[in-house]
Amino acid sequence: MMLTETGSPMPDVADLFRRLTAGVYVVGVADGERRNAFTAAWLTQVSFEPLLLALSVNPGHASYPLLVGGGGFTVSVLSRDQLHLARHFGTRSARETDKLAGIAWRPGRSGAPILTQAVAFLECRITQRVRAGDHEIVLASPVAGEVLLPDAIPLTYADTGELDGSRELYPASL
Ligand SMILES: Cc1cc2nc3c(=O)[nH]c(=O)nc-3n(C[C@H](O)[C@H](O)[C@H](O)COP(=O)(O)O)c2cc1C
Repeated sequence: MMLTETGSPMPDVADLFRRLTAGVYVVGVADGERRNAFTAAWLTQVSFEPLLLALSVNPGHASYPLLVGGGGFTVSVLSRDQLHLARHFGTRSARETDKLAGIAWRPGRSGAPILTQAVAFLECRITQRVRAGDHEIVLASPVAGEVLLPDAIPLTYADTGELDGSRELYPASL
């Protein structure tokens, strides 16, 4: 058994990383009339002045060319009772199905979709893109946003359990 510096057993890496708390969002993208959305947990505020968010995105996603082409994205914050939306947008690609069909959404200023049942939303313009291993970090300035459901409790990544199927992507140990 591998031990940490303090002599306790080395934790499972996936279990360890699941304790880095994160929210769960539906990121909307649009390039002209082409629109899509995907679930993202790797999104966080990274600066006050200027106000900046960072989103880590897999360049292999169908959403990626729309994100880059459109130059921005929307963020719809999911609530604790919207795990089904995290699953809907996060476990299938637009290459397989039109994920926006049958979902209540409206276009933001850029045309990117905002879920009308979201706890809150933000609209962001991309300021910088940086390669980060197998993902790309997209820095963005918020240009609009609103709290839609002030009393709703946001969904956390830990609440999604094994939904993203990422366990096998972690190394066995650090
Ligand atoms: C809970 C959860 C969190 C996710 N977080 C991210 C993320 O932060 N960045 C990312 O690129 N993909 C993330 N994904 C994976 C994408 O949502 C998923 O691959 C999606 O099917 C991509 O859709 P698209 O090909 O239509 O763009 C997450 C999936 C789930 C279920």
